Amino acid sequence: MDKPSNEKPWGGRFTGTTDAFVEAFTASVSFDHRLYAHDIAGSIAHATMLSASGILSAEECAQIVEGLTAIKAECDAGRFVWSIALEDVHMNIEHALVNRIGEVGKKLHTARSRNDQVATDIRLFLRAEIDVLLASLKRLLTALVDLAEREAATVMPGFTHLQTAQPITFGHHVLAWFEMLLRDRDRLREVRQRVNVLPLGAGALAGTTFPIQRELSAKLLGFDCVAENSLDAVSDRDFAIEFCAAAALMMVHFSRMSEELVLWNSQQFGFVDLDDRFCTGSSMMPQKKNPDVPELVRGKSGRVVGHLMALITLMKGQPLAYNKDNQEDKEPLFDTVDTLAACLRAFGDLIPSLQVRRDRLRAAAGTGFTTATDFADYLVRLGIPFRDAHAIVGAAVRLAVARECGLEALHLADFQGLHLAITEEIYSVLEVDRAVAARNHVGGTAPAQVRAACQRARGRLAS
Ligand code: ARG
Repeated sequence: MDKPSNEKPWGGRFTGTTDAFVEAFTASVSFDHRLYAHDIAGSIAHATMLSASGILSAEECAQIVEGLTAIKAECDAGRFVWSIALEDVHMNIEHALVNRIGEVGKKLHTARSRNDQVATDIRLFLRAEIDVLLASLKRLLTALVDLAEREAATVMPGFTHLQTAQPITFGHHVLAWFEMLLRDRDRLREVRQRVNVLPLGAGALAGTTFPIQRELSAKLLGFDCVAENSLDAVSDRDFAIEFCAAAALMMVHFSRMSEELVLWNSQQFGFVDLDDRFCTGSSMMPQKKNPDVPELVRGKSGRVVGHLMALITLMKGQPLAYNKDNQEDKEPLFDTVDTLAACLRAFGDLIPSLQVRRDRLRAAAGTGFTTATDFADYLVRLGIPFRDAHAIVGAAVRLAVARECGLEALHLADFQGLHLAITEEIYSVLEVDRAVAARNHVGGTAPAQVRAACQRARGRLAS
């Protein structure tokens, strides 16, 4: 960064210089320089529109576009020198433009304010980032369907209260993750629609006295439409809050998935093996292989939820229209994008390499009386009311607990002591494969249903 200078584009009204601390305190260039490509794209579209509207000559526009293009190349190459004295990305670039092409560069800011400029930049930034995130999310969703299909018939215990509940298939569990994340995709797509609205033309707050063509600017920048109200256009950050809300929810989903992976990867569960690439060791305990990646993803959900709180609180109590408070929108937004991108990448790499321990899952699926509900359903089919059936099975479980065995190890005489209608069929009813196959309806855990759901999932992913 340069030393403070007095060449402020707004310096005309001032006689005194800015306090050095205040200059640094109010500057945003240290973080908003990240917007340079979008700022320049916005400026090129603005100049093009001004020229098409007869506000700039074609020659002036050509010079401005050429200058901005050269500045972009300088930024791309990392050669642009950002100055704190020039406060933000907008004034840095404008200043560089005037330095480069002279007086005509000073015409670029006609019919524009930094207020509509920055709102445009953030929307362009977020739109581009959402598209990258959506591509990354699609890769992860595809990996989940692949995994679900591969493990469609792998039985495992399903849990409620983290107590073994009923047998399910691993593929079915993975498809539950898929559903969570597909809703996240839909939310991101919806947010993108509200992001893709053009603020430019709103000026500082009240519009401009020049005969601008906002629809042309929107078309040049790929916006779906123009913001209807100039005050709202410069003060609205709903789209950023909505994005952070969608991101926070996605991170909560990642956190829940992480928690399951951490548990499943533990010695006690032993359901999965995370690839060495995604684990680290301990500096003291030689035997350790820690699931750092899912742990970190779980941990990072906190900061994204925090950014949502920061942004929504930032807007509370702001009068219309633009206020400098809004400069505080960028860091939470940038970090949300970066954190989400990193976590998507981590999961996108980790899921395809996940080793599923089918033997351990099968053993666990059959313990903890997981087919007790199937037993009760069987009694219902014999004509016994469900509540009575529930009590009978409860008694059978008590007996098995006392004998420290599974239900399948009880003798037929034991079962018939509980109800005379019970036959040999009870033993097949208690099998986990039969239990999962029996849940054979849309949304159920039967392998055939999981395979069909995977097919549908691929179609939904393509749409
Ligand atoms: N750096 C400012 C921001 O991020 C740009 C807009 C400043 N506008 C103003 N009138 N001070 O919001």
